[in-house]
Amino acid sequence: MSAVDAIAVLDFGSQYTQLIARRIRELAVYSEILPPTVSVEDLQRAGYKGIILSGGPSSVYDEGAPLPSARLFDAGVPVLGICYGMQMMGYLLGGRVEPAQRREYGKAGVELRTPSKLLRGVTPDGHDRLTVWMSHGDTVLSPPAGFAVLGATDNCPVAAMADDERRLYAVQFHPEVAHTSQGLRILENFLDLCGVARTWSMASFVDTTVSEIRARVGPDRVLCALSGGIDSSVVAVLVHRAIGDQLTCVFVDNGLLRQGEAEAVVHTFRDTFRINFVHVDAAARFLDRLRGVVDPEEKRKRIGREFIAVFEEEAERLGTIPWLAQGTLYPDVIESVSAKGPSATIKTHHNVGGLPERMNFRLLEPLRELFKDEVRRVGELLGLPPAIIWRQPFPGPGLAIRVLGEVTEERLTLLREADTIVQDEVRGAGLERDLWQAFAVLLPVHTVGVMGDFRTYGQVIAVRAVTSQDAMTADWARLPYELLERISNRTINEVRGINRVVFDVSSKPPSTIEWE
Ligand code: XMP
Repeated sequence: MSAVDAIAVLDFGSQYTQLIARRIRELAVYSEILPPTVSVEDLQRAGYKGIILSGGPSSVYDEGAPLPSARLFDAGVPVLGICYGMQMMGYLLGGRVEPAQRREYGKAGVELRTPSKLLRGVTPDGHDRLTVWMSHGDTVLSPPAGFAVLGATDNCPVAAMADDERRLYAVQFHPEVAHTSQGLRILENFLDLCGVARTWSMASFVDTTVSEIRARVGPDRVLCALSGGIDSSVVAVLVHRAIGDQLTCVFVDNGLLRQGEAEAVVHTFRDTFRINFVHVDAAARFLDRLRGVVDPEEKRKRIGREFIAVFEEEAERLGTIPWLAQGTLYPDVIESVSAKGPSATIKTHHNVGGLPERMNFRLLEPLRELFKDEVRRVGELLGLPPAIIWRQPFPGPGLAIRVLGEVTEERLTLLREADTIVQDEVRGAGLERDLWQAFAVLLPVHTVGVMGDFRTYGQVIAVRAVTSQDAMTADWARLPYELLERISNRTINEVRGINRVVFDVSSKPPSTIEWE
């Protein structure tokens, strides 16, 4: 922990913890997420200017519920409790907290009562009430001594409370979510109360992270599995900036990438960034493992196992390397997980899943508190090319799960040609950044067609294009007919063996984005 002009966010397991940290960063203040077990002394030593207690799934009355020390409230810096954070504050300081009876979820209107610095400039914005987002079971019925009730909803007699003198604040609702209309203003007011300098930026994130990596790693070597995607690319360049040649990147080319991708990865990292770079051409090995396999899960398993095998062999060849750098982000898949909490069920998407445990690596995950758009910003600052920064998500098992049925060199080539046309045309139409993903899928059927005077019996390409925020849900993209027409014409004319193109009009759920 090293924190001048930073805010500590103690994570009690809320799915919104990272969002709190992100909002604070948006307000140009550095914030760090810490486990709820962190000691008051450590927090004071690190010099945080304010402390936020996150929400969480527990009740203060649960056996073993995570609770901070009550001395936290005398630490001399402002504290803001959010949801469960408020209930803990109420409970530990002697207020009345009612166990879950009046659950309240979703939109609510707060009737504002006593003015407080926390709500400076915050005004009713709907039916004389402040629109907020609630999600709680327990409720504070009466605040601890010294606190004023700032507002109430129909279900919640204390929706916000403050002891301005001790600089203790709490809200039952979630100021960090967009549905709380003036949530950012409330967080901003809290930052003002903390007297914290608003000077943080992504550029300072890069500087701080580079120094931290240097300090943690010392003279050791670090290994990084580079996939060519944005996350591992940013990690590679960031770690390289910190420790230069102590970093070695291994790029396992599984032969399942799109047209020109492997070459682009080699060019960017070896030639442009001059990173120690091992290109393992393992295409033949992967194809061999996939021979005769049609079951999607079996494909995934075999690809995953082969990846680990290849990576292990390479790592062994490179000698002892204690660290593995990974592009783990704040979970791409947002679930109710606790990133650093005591009983954390971490469900981050590790692209190199299983490696750290098997190989006893120590993990370096410099992006783990960032969201995707923040990672893109870091990538830009580090000078990565737009093709990498804006690369659409691409699954680890690659084209193997887009060649339905058996994966063979010939079928991969067909798919690559068709996919290149989809990519070209979508880019040409200026839609690349509006779409979460757009790609071609090769179907395992033959259909009849006619070309010239001849009957054909060819294969079918499906075009998949979706919009999405986070891949948890997705809608099929309403691509213009003209664009679909160009994709169809070009595919059938230019890709020998394809005589039909179809467009996938299914949303997720119930369909998934990938076909396998
Ligand atoms: P589905 O098909 O489940 O995909 O709707 C959701 C998102 O995840 C990507 N995806 C994967 N990414 N390994 C990955 O790294 C995988 O095995 C995998 N399967 C799906 C998919 O491209 C989409 O963005």
